[in-house]
Amino acid sequence: MVDIDRRDFIKKGAAGVAVTSACLCGVNGCATYTGISNTPAANPDSITFDGSVLTVNLSSEPALRQVGGAVKVRNSDLPDELIIARVEENRFVIASLLCTHRGVELEYDRENTRFKCPSLGSSVFALDGANVSGMARKPLRTYEAVLESNSLTIRV
Ligand code: FES
Repeated sequence: MVDIDRRDFIKKGAAGVAVTSACLCGVNGCATYTGISNTPAANPDSITFDGSVLTVNLSSEPALRQVGGAVKVRNSDLPDELIIARVEENRFVIASLLCTHRGVELEYDRENTRFKCPSLGSSVFALDGANVSGMARKPLRTYEAVLESNSLTIRV
């Protein structure tokens, strides 16, 4: 049996806790453990971007045809990655895709009409981007959208 004094035991225990904590948070932010929904990526054929205006052709974006649908828009030309949710028949909400805590991609929670972070920090944002709960301290950036016939126009 190896003798270990109390002070060494506490030091070794603290090192073990530190390693465990680092594993939970990963390199780029909170680890993702929960899946709130499976918000799909936008159909690339439905999106055009002219440098300042993003246009979504709703007739080629099946996920946005019904209230409660949402898509994630990742495009390297965009200044911000987005999540688009159809919250009412003629109302869309557009927000930054990445959680303001550590940048995990948000999901649209259609039952509660909120954006939720699936990470351990469990941040929740209202449709206007305000923090509701969780570890994020900054609100989400949101964007105005104009709906005309089957086209959604977003200035980014
Ligand atoms: S990244 Fe930590 S709560 Fe969203």
